Amino acid sequence: MTKLRLFALLLALVPALGLAAGPGPALEHSGTDLSDKASLQRGAGLYMNYCASCHALSMHRYSRIASDLDLPPELVEQHLMPSHAKIGENIHTGINAGDGDAWLGKAPPDLSLTSRARLGGPDYIYSYLKGFYIDEARPMGWNNTVFPGASMPNVLWELQGIQRPVYDQGADGQSHLTRLELASPGRLSPQEFDRVARDISAFLQYVAEPAALKRESVGVWVILFLVFFTFIAYLLKLEFWRDVH
Ligand code: HEC
Repeated sequence: MTKLRLFALLLALVPALGLAAGPGPALEHSGTDLSDKASLQRGAGLYMNYCASCHALSMHRYSRIASDLDLPPELVEQHLMPSHAKIGENIHTGINAGDGDAWLGKAPPDLSLTSRARLGGPDYIYSYLKGFYIDEARPMGWNNTVFPGASMPNVLWELQGIQRPVYDQGADGQSHLTRLELASPGRLSPQEFDRVARDISAFLQYVAEPAALKRESVGVWVILFLVFFTFIAYLLKLEFWRDVH
């Protein structure tokens, strides 16, 4: 490829990059940490309790969760799986797409890859879980700042409490939703609820790319190998050039 064509190709990619960084709802930083096994374990428990009844993770197996998150298979069988499921099975949900459509107005999507598919990744899920507020105009009584008009009810409201929108008048004379305030507190403090949202986001981040757990530990060895190899290459160079003056 000539340099000119390469340059043209790179130039053609620029708008795509611009789009990827395009405007969207402001997301909160989730602070997920894939090396924090305890957080991933808590996230798995919360997910199976509060989300798995509607959302499948069909690209992931229960057994993989057990081995990746250092959980004994018996514990996963007893606490994280529906009684009819087998540990080697993929994570399906009881609700089928037709029922989801009929009951909720929208079938709950499979979340296997959501953390990778959405801009912001775990920050998107974190902000979404924190972004529910009451809105009588919506069929379920809930709306969401990150995903306006979402058909999902706030399944974590007992933990979080109920948030109400606060509107301010903008420069254009229209009223804008500027923030959410806690109208009635839940079982958890806001800090504790942030941790719940962070743990679930971390779990879904891991599910979307299980190899990321391994990659970070392999990375260190790759760097060490490269440093070592550079040293060998340097010795080799000294050897080759020894007789050349
Ligand atoms: C009662 C069923 C139900 C439960 C339980 C539920 N959801 Fe949902 N969820 C939905 C529906 C329906 C949608 C689709 C919303 C839409 O497209 O309007 C959705 C959408 C989502 C999305 C947005 C997906 C996207 O493509 O942007 C995420 C993320 C999500 N749910 C996460 C969760 C998490 C995490 C939990 C557990 C804390 C959970 N959901 C529990 C029904 C549910």
